[in-house]
Amino acid sequence: MSQRIAVIPGDGIGNEVIPESIRALEAAARRFDLQLDFRHFDFASCDYYLNHGRMLPEDWKEQLGGFDALLFGAVGMPEKVPDHISLWGSLLQFRRHFDQYINLRPCKLMPGIRSPLAGREPGDIDFYVVRENTEGEYSSVGGKMFEGTEREVVIQDTVMTRIGIDRVLKYAFELASRRPRRKLTSATKSNGISITMPYWDERVQEMSEHYPNIDVDKFHIDILTANFVLHPDWFDVVVASNLFGDILSDLGPACTGTIGVAPSANINPEHRFPSLFEPVHGSAPDIYGRNIANPIGQIWCGAMMLEHLGHEKAGQAMLDGIEAVLAAGSDQAPLTPDLGGQGTTSELGEAIADAIRDGD
Ligand code: NAI
Ligand code: MG
Repeated sequence: MSQRIAVIPGDGIGNEVIPESIRALEAAARRFDLQLDFRHFDFASCDYYLNHGRMLPEDWKEQLGGFDALLFGAVGMPEKVPDHISLWGSLLQFRRHFDQYINLRPCKLMPGIRSPLAGREPGDIDFYVVRENTEGEYSSVGGKMFEGTEREVVIQDTVMTRIGIDRVLKYAFELASRRPRRKLTSATKSNGISITMPYWDERVQEMSEHYPNIDVDKFHIDILTANFVLHPDWFDVVVASNLFGDILSDLGPACTGTIGVAPSANINPEHRFPSLFEPVHGSAPDIYGRNIANPIGQIWCGAMMLEHLGHEKAGQAMLDGIEAVLAAGSDQAPLTPDLGGQGTTSELGEAIADAIRDGD
């Protein structure tokens, strides 16, 4: 059966790293006999906005809704279009309307990459941050009164629903049960935030009763951030509300080195809508056009996408290909300048595709 993939490079280096992700995906498809059918779209980019006065066509949901997954580059060219317009007009629409309620980020220290944390080796850092992606602290409930007077008041409410919490917890527990350590950490702050966070803890407790094999612990968000830095080896799957997850999902990958290698996924686990796979980095206007962007984050997105589509072996082979090339080091492999090498985007992409092809 063929998988239909919508490819949306967006802006800047999105256009340089997407072709390398496709090259790697095609190598994996050939090796594992998968049918991947790519279709390219030019919307969700600032050039599209300048031509059409909007980031997306009116019927974008119809155009994209039937795809199995969206492979996304990056959006934003602040010199052409303000960031809040380009981001709200594209990526955030996808996340919201396709009910991508899981934001998933692997935090894995790869061979050949120096962690900013002293003395950490590959194997020491290997966990996932699972962030609730639709509600919580990022609500639109609230308002402003008496604006411009001494009585000025602003209120923004946190919205947590049982459905919203339970579905992200279920995803995180399921993920933890597929991993060898079977460990789940919950981010809370029930000592300070005295209504929603105790409720979050209650739901974690109840969900954990369905997963007796999982070792569960929880930390308040303040000490949890410290422990990401001090003891990253403690973690396996970390689950968090929207705000806490936002913070942790930047901190986690930052502990594993360059931004150029980090992937992320916005997932609708039921496959009712396509899920979206995008690197953590943005469009990097400062290096765009020089063919030196690191394509690994985007290639790793392809691996996560295959895993989500049920092709775990092919996804793992892509990750193995990335690790093999990184382990070879800049003497043997055309690593990009951010990794200390002198390779180009396309040379590194080609080396990884070759490693995926030769992996068996
Ligand atoms: P950025 O991630 O684009 O760049 C930050 C720094 O990291 C730059 O120095 C850049 O050269 C470097 N970098 C990023 N990706 C790299 C790669 N693959 N290889 C080597 N070096 C890399 O973040 P910045 O500069 O804050 O934002 C630029 C634009 O991207 C803005 O319009 C912003 O809104 C947008 N952006 C979009 C995101 C998305 O589409 N999800 C995420 C983050 C930023
Ligand atoms: Mg963030």
